[in-house]
Amino acid sequence: MTKNKISKNWLIKKKKDPFFKLSKIKGFRSRSAFKLIEMNKKFKFLKENSLLLDLGSFPGGWSQVASKEITKGKILSIDIKFMEKIDKVDFIKGDFLQDNIFEKIIFYFNSKVDVVLSDMAANTTGNKTLDSYRTGELCLGAMDLATKILSKDGVFLSKAFMGTIFNEINESAKKNFRKVVKYKPISSKKESKEIYIYCQGILNI
Ligand SMILES: C[S@@+](CC[C@H](N)C(=O)[O-])C[C@H]1O[C@@H](n2cnc3c(N)ncnc32)[C@H](O)[C@@H]1O
Repeated sequence: MTKNKISKNWLIKKKKDPFFKLSKIKGFRSRSAFKLIEMNKKFKFLKENSLLLDLGSFPGGWSQVASKEITKGKILSIDIKFMEKIDKVDFIKGDFLQDNIFEKIIFYFNSKVDVVLSDMAANTTGNKTLDSYRTGELCLGAMDLATKILSKDGVFLSKAFMGTIFNEINESAKKNFRKVVKYKPISSKKESKEIYIYCQGILNI
């Protein structure tokens, strides 16, 4: 198949996707917004005064959802790509793994954080095994960061892909958190191996 035909098929598929259509109607920047809405309905972790860190926030669907629920707290979003301003959301452009970004996060909250979200995904290479491994590494990095900044009952929610590295993620989550649940939202495409891991309550704090 030619490159043009592939991108045409991708566009047709996208236009048929009900969550893509709904995101346009509701004014969400991404269809991912519905994943967070659904997971928050299930686990109820977005509170009006939450302190929340959104890793891999671009284009901003999750930050938009968080900003509707968190009216008296603080939201800091981080991405290597520039994210257009969202009301009540502060943004830092950068790689979350850099030391100076970590320092900025600590300075911004100046307190323990209630929720760390990570919807980060590595750039796709076409090799699905490699891509899911690299996204898994981002999840492990985000979990490590979360264990350093979360409050005792804090929540870490992250994207991952089922595959070899997922066992490592699950084991690490069970060592660090009291409650660990795997969850696949209905808005996550069936054909994708994408999965979310919901972790709550830091152990050994
Ligand atoms: C699936 S998108 C996130 C979608 C977003 N949650 C939303 O609702 O609009 C994944 C994002 O992770 C970001 N990302 C990947 N690696 C990163 C890193 N090391 N630091 C910060 N962001 C990263 C990418 O730039 C990309 O924008």
